[in-house]
Amino acid sequence: MTNRKGIILAGGSGTRLFPITIGVSKQLLPIYDKPMIYYPISVLMLAGIREIAIITTPHDQDQFKRALGNGNDWGLNFTYIQQPSPDGLAQAYLLAEEFLDGAPSALILGDNVFFGHGLPEILAAADRRERGGTVFGYRVSDPNRYGVVGYDAQGRVTEIIEKPENPPSNYAVTGLYFLDETAPERARKVEPSPRGELEIVDLLRSYLDEGELDVQQMGRGYAWLDTGTHGSLLDAGNFVRTLSERQGQQVGCPEEVAFNKGWVSREKLDELASRYKKTNYGAYLSEIRKGS
Ligand code: DAU
Repeated sequence: MTNRKGIILAGGSGTRLFPITIGVSKQLLPIYDKPMIYYPISVLMLAGIREIAIITTPHDQDQFKRALGNGNDWGLNFTYIQQPSPDGLAQAYLLAEEFLDGAPSALILGDNVFFGHGLPEILAAADRRERGGTVFGYRVSDPNRYGVVGYDAQGRVTEIIEKPENPPSNYAVTGLYFLDETAPERARKVEPSPRGELEIVDLLRSYLDEGELDVQQMGRGYAWLDTGTHGSLLDAGNFVRTLSERQGQQVGCPEEVAFNKGWVSREKLDELASRYKKTNYGAYLSEIRKGS
C-alpha cells in the first residue's frame, strides 16, 4: 500500500448516448442494479485507495454529490472537481494537481467496468511500482475505437496510438492508468491534438520514451466491458445481472469492498443495508454482514 490517490474522470458530454444523457450524466446511468460509477469506485477501493477525486462537468456535479455523498459511508473521502469543458483525459492531472499534492495516482475513467478473478493482485502490483507508470492492454476485436499498443518483433511496446485507422495490434489500452507523481508536470507539456484534446496517449508516450511505462496484459479471464453505445450499455447490464444472479455475489459493490477491507463496521453495514431494504442489493448487504 502506497500513498497513491485515486481520480475518477466522469465528465464529458455523453453525446454518443443521446438522448439518454441529455438529462443525466453517463456515469450515473445504471449498469443493472447500480450506477455506472460504482464499478470504477470499487476498482480503486480494491487497489486500497481511499482518497478519491471525482471530476465532473460543472453542470452534473450536484447529481454526483447527491448520488455519492462525501464517501464516508464507504470509508472513503471524495473531493469533487469540475472540468469546465471536455478538453481531454490528460487534463485530469492538471485539474487534480492540487488534490494529488505530490502523490502518485490511479486514474480510472468513470465509464470503465472491470471484472475478473485476480483483479486485486494486478492492482496491487501496479500500485507497488513507484517509478513510472502501469497501464493495461486488453485484446479487443475493434481496436480502432481505442488507444492501441504497438509492439516490436521482441514483444516490446514501441508506441501507443489513439484510435488508429490501421491498428498495429488488437491490444487496446484500458481506461485505468497508474502513474507516478510526475504525471501533472508531464501533462503540462502535452499540446492539444488536432481534435483539440490533451490526449492521454501523449502523456503515456512521455513515460514510454523514457522506458518508464509498463503495459501489463489483462488476459482473457478478465472482463473489460464497453458502455459506449446503447447496445453495449445494455449488454454490460445483462452481463452483471447474469453473473451476480448465478453466483449470488455482487460485482462492483463498494459497501462489500469497504466491509471486507475493514473500513466500515458491521453497524455501518447494517445501516446501509436497511437503507436499501426494499431491494436485492439491501438483502445482499445483510447477507455479507452475517459473513455468509
Ligand atoms: O476506455 C478506454 C479508452 O478511453 C482508451 O483506450 C483511449 O485511449 C482513451 O482516449 C479513451 O477513449 P474514449 O473514446 O473512450 O474517450 P472519450 O472521449 O469517450 O472519454 C472517455 C470518458 O471520459 C467518457 O466517459 C467521458 C470522459 N471524459 C472525456 C473527456 C475527453 C471526461 O470526463 N473529460 C474529457 O475531457
